[in-house]
Amino acid sequence: MYFDPNSHPEPTADPERRINARIKSAGRITFAEFMEEALYGRGGYYTRPGGPGPINPGGDYFTSPSSHPSFGALIAVQLRDFWDLLGQPDPFDAVEFGSGDGTLGRDVVRYTQTLGKPFSTALRYTEVDRANSDGGATTPVGVTGCVLSNELLDAFPVHRFVIENGSVLELYVVAGEDGFAGAPGPVSDQEIEQRVAPFVSALPDGYRGEVNLGLRPWADRVAATLDRGFVLTVDYGEYGPELYRPGRSEGSLRAYYRHTLSQDPFRHVGDQDLTAHVDFSAVDSALSSAGLDSLGMTTQTAFLDRLGLRSYLARLPALGLPAGEVERNRMPMLWLARPDGLGRFKVAFHARGVAGTRAPIGLDNRGADHDPSTLPVPLLTRDDGHFDLADGAYPGTSWDGTVNTGTWAEILGVDDEGEE
Ligand SMILES: C[S@@+](CC[C@H](N)C(=O)[O-])C[C@H]1O[C@@H](n2cnc3c(N)ncnc32)[C@H](O)[C@@H]1O
Repeated sequence: MYFDPNSHPEPTADPERRINARIKSAGRITFAEFMEEALYGRGGYYTRPGGPGPINPGGDYFTSPSSHPSFGALIAVQLRDFWDLLGQPDPFDAVEFGSGDGTLGRDVVRYTQTLGKPFSTALRYTEVDRANSDGGATTPVGVTGCVLSNELLDAFPVHRFVIENGSVLELYVVAGEDGFAGAPGPVSDQEIEQRVAPFVSALPDGYRGEVNLGLRPWADRVAATLDRGFVLTVDYGEYGPELYRPGRSEGSLRAYYRHTLSQDPFRHVGDQDLTAHVDFSAVDSALSSAGLDSLGMTTQTAFLDRLGLRSYLARLPALGLPAGEVERNRMPMLWLARPDGLGRFKVAFHARGVAGTRAPIGLDNRGADHDPSTLPVPLLTRDDGHFDLADGAYPGTSWDGTVNTGTWAEILGVDDEGEE
């Protein structure tokens, strides 16, 4: 299934009809099969014409790379730091899995030019996305550098489970009179039970959750690609104990239809995005089995701050831009870091073959010789693939022109708990 662009030979472009046909012949399908068809089958959310996948640059969804070029710029700064930690190899490969419309790669490469040689000439950036017709055929193997991704793992098809009488049952998908519905049954794969086992005794009956079985194949793929270097994984999720706990009885599966959260994964099949939080404990263990060590995890807020976002924000008003342009850049920059915005994403670091004396800057900037005030401030340009939201699209966005030099929380416009 992984990276196989030919896994959907069915002639119809309607995922709903295809799912119905599968259920009719099999009686039920796993939720992962449902999600696979709804997102990646022909006519699915990521593969339909007009959808947000690589076939439609500038599509309709909203992620960190599409918010503002600062995100790609600071990823470039982190890549340069990885390159330093690896002893400045040439070439230095950055391989992005799940690159979507390619905005992150464009921003990284563009900003790298401003960082100067020899890093800019050493960097080789490769994009890999399963929705590209060449699929896995072009994925590099055995590189020195970094494998990175943003919102890849939360888009993998997941299996759903429910706790009944203290046991783990799988929630399959069946076709009822009112459309698709969940139906419990014995698990289709023992790994589902194994992954939930450490938490089961604390979970109440009726608890629903998800297990992402795509992590191991992904980790094997990462290990084949990366001979020596770092894995940088930006995604929405938690460590296992935080994800599988009684307060989260409805699980983390979310459906988004035209930017609006919808509770029902069975509606708008092929037209709505489906995501589930990433279990970062499972990420650690999958990568560990593949030979990569965890260095730690941080929030996107802290990651971007350590690399230089606060410095970009502080210098923005003094660049001589019209007030409207300052605001047009400031809002998405803040939104990248706000804990009630994209700042709550996690950034996980893994490595292999690196005899580091210090941590990467984005994880811990103590001990690094890093002065963000020397970095050029990246700015939105017109028609460059970023979102350019109309006024008011970001919450808490009125600005009186005063530069806030307070704490990081004050600069972001949130209190210390991350609330507005
Ligand atoms: C939520 S989108 C994120 C796109 C982009 N990284 C961004 O941040 O805007 C997830 C992307 O991952 C791709 N994808 C999903 N599963 C994949 C896999 N197994 N290998 C490579 N790409 C995959 C999808 O086609 C889609 O473009």
